[in-house]
Amino acid sequence: MKILAIESTCDETAAALVETCGGGVKVIRSVIASSVEMHQKYGGIVPEVAAREQIRSIIPVITEAVGGEVSSVEAIAVSYGPGLMGSLLVGVETAKVLSWTQKKKILKVNHMTGHVLANWIVEGENEEVPKLPAIGLVVSGGHTDLILLKTMKDWQWIGGTRDDAAGEAFDKVARLLELPYPGGPEIDKAAQQVSENDWEKYHSEYKLPRPLINDPGLEMSFSGLKAAVSRMVENEKVTGWIPDQVGNDRNTKRNIIAREFSEAATEVLTKKTLLAVEKYKPKSVILAGGVAANKRLRERLKLEIEKLSEVNFFVPELKYCGDNAAMIGAAAILRPEETTLNLRPEPSLATV
Ligand code: KG4
Ligand code: ZN
Repeated sequence: MKILAIESTCDETAAALVETCGGGVKVIRSVIASSVEMHQKYGGIVPEVAAREQIRSIIPVITEAVGGEVSSVEAIAVSYGPGLMGSLLVGVETAKVLSWTQKKKILKVNHMTGHVLANWIVEGENEEVPKLPAIGLVVSGGHTDLILLKTMKDWQWIGGTRDDAAGEAFDKVARLLELPYPGGPEIDKAAQQVSENDWEKYHSEYKLPRPLINDPGLEMSFSGLKAAVSRMVENEKVTGWIPDQVGNDRNTKRNIIAREFSEAATEVLTKKTLLAVEKYKPKSVILAGGVAANKRLRERLKLEIEKLSEVNFFVPELKYCGDNAAMIGAAAILRPEETTLNLRPEPSLATV
């Protein structure tokens, strides 16, 4: 089965052509246009700007992804939420017009389901895909959820954040450290710049809390962590380290805070995932969402899961961690939900 998938939930306009391949999904073409640079000067996404850019990009992006193969496409898939209303409308309405004019059925996809099923994207028939039941840690700009995938259809929410999403915390902390938007990748980069020497020398002075880490439940919290960074930065202002515009101290110390924050977030996410594994005894653990691109989190979770015998770890390639349409196509193939031309965007759609 070949599917044309469309993704327009936030500031990425994406389209992809995908097809069934063994137990997974193969990507024929995946195209992404991003308006992220236009939001940088505001330090966050401006919904009107994002929607306007979606309108400008959607037709060229779809045209490139289809590559003249429209007749072999069996269905049009589109993510209909969660996301920004203005952005969602562009993808959903375009998908409906295509479905009507090309006489193809239309499949609706929950954007978060797409992130999870990005783990089923393969390059060849013999590539391994996650075995179920699986525990999914879904970490994005708006969500931090632990879910149990009992079967491909039957998913259960088992835990997650009670306040900020992990990605949101990364973005806010980056702002406190005066790093550009989007903050996640910037914090990741800054953290990797700390030399082992500097880390040994300074990190004991920059300890952040690991909220709820010793709590036996699967609840998480990131807003306190962000507040702790805020206090730390305030203190640095007093001593003149941050935001000092000159000298190396500022960057060294800022990078140490970035690394300590990444460590704290990674430790909490890893610990809670391990607790879920202990409780539900899955065959696989899958990491998904934009924050799954984080180097420390990918490495640490992989290491801890691989210590357990009989549990396999999966994480998408970097290009399928952030928003893309290939994952929407994968979800449409593996968890199809046929809909009609009455489809409406659902900005607050829940993960499960
Ligand atoms: O899944 P995504 O692309 O969009 C949503 O569905 O929200 O996730 C975006 C989030 C942003 O908060 C961004 O800062 C974060 O993922 N992110 C990262 C990294 N790359 C993206 N966070 C930490 N480390 C990264 N390398
Ligand atoms: Zn996303």
